[in-house]
Amino acid sequence: MGIRLIGAGMYLPELVVDNEDFAKIVETSDEWITKRTGIKRRHISQGEYTWAMGLKAAKDAIKSAKITPLDLDMIIFTTVNADFAYPSMSNVIQGKLGASNAFGIDICCACAGFVYGLDMAQRYIDTDENIKTVLIVSSENMTKSVDYSNRSTCVLFGDGAGAVVAQRSNQKAYSYLGADGTRAELLYAHLYPSGNAFTTKEQAQENSKIFPNETGRYMYMNGKEVYKFAVNAMPLALEKACQKAGISPKDLDYIIPHQANIRIIETAMKKMGVDKSKVYVNIQETGNISSACIPVGLAQLFEQKKLSPGNRVGMVGFGAGLIYGAIVITV
Ligand code: UT7
Repeated sequence: MGIRLIGAGMYLPELVVDNEDFAKIVETSDEWITKRTGIKRRHISQGEYTWAMGLKAAKDAIKSAKITPLDLDMIIFTTVNADFAYPSMSNVIQGKLGASNAFGIDICCACAGFVYGLDMAQRYIDTDENIKTVLIVSSENMTKSVDYSNRSTCVLFGDGAGAVVAQRSNQKAYSYLGADGTRAELLYAHLYPSGNAFTTKEQAQENSKIFPNETGRYMYMNGKEVYKFAVNAMPLALEKACQKAGISPKDLDYIIPHQANIRIIETAMKKMGVDKSKVYVNIQETGNISSACIPVGLAQLFEQKKLSPGNRVGMVGFGAGLIYGAIVITV
């Protein structure tokens, strides 16, 4: 048993902020950002809820799949910018869509979230005969967790959402998922303050030894170390997923990598000997939208009619955790 993608959709906020705009708020330049990251502009939400952006992408995907929300059996929502601690984002959009036959699960797997979501969809479809059609929505409001006075991080991220509808088929998807939690402190954002009214001085000191809260609710990132991790983790994950599929990364028709830095993508693809023309890159237009990068790429490929039935697509992500994962799917 396997899955195929019967529809894809996306939503990018209307506001576009380019590198020149950033040069007005922090000490940076279009030249630095372009050369070091490949990013030229990014879409930025003006206070929209994360679930609301996800809902727009979900509706687009459902329309493209030519189904109705009542056909959905399950909704998987991936994000690192949930609007609420509870309820889950998937439950909120289940209600807004009127997908009353579906149950929902949220997953927080950082920038690899969509890959994990697709993997999860296949596993549910495989093991439960009542689950045939799964909506996977990845929506991110990264600009809510970046500090706009920190030039090392604020220029890198954007907002947006992507979604796909996966349906039972006889084409198995092959995945490889991994993590190195010993490096969790390289990239994180606090959800809550670490203390409460009863916190002792000793406990506060203890808390500040790991995951220090100097950045408040904003992101902390050791960019250099994450970079070094990424250029190895991406080829490792994709090669392992391809191995399970009995192919090599060079045999893939398309690769959609997580869009964090063009230099990471190029280095990783070079390591695998993959031809540039097969690698989907949209980082120049969107910046890093965490787990939404890959489904937005998929939706754009669908829109441009670049995917033909039988094409094999490899998707590979990495991010906070440190997490990584790849999946190979036949469309
Ligand atoms: O989705 C997963 C999450 N994130 C990532 O994958 C990010 C991975 N890391 C990266 O992409 C890169 O490490 C960065 C883009 C974050 C940084 O690039 P880098 O080539 O590693 O630069 P760096 O951090 O070594 O900084 C080089 C210099 C520093 O100045 P000094 O110390 O050499 O004087 C920085 O202060 O560049 C400076 N710098 C900037 N200059 C202008 C850092 N950010 C900026 C900026 N504009 N926006």
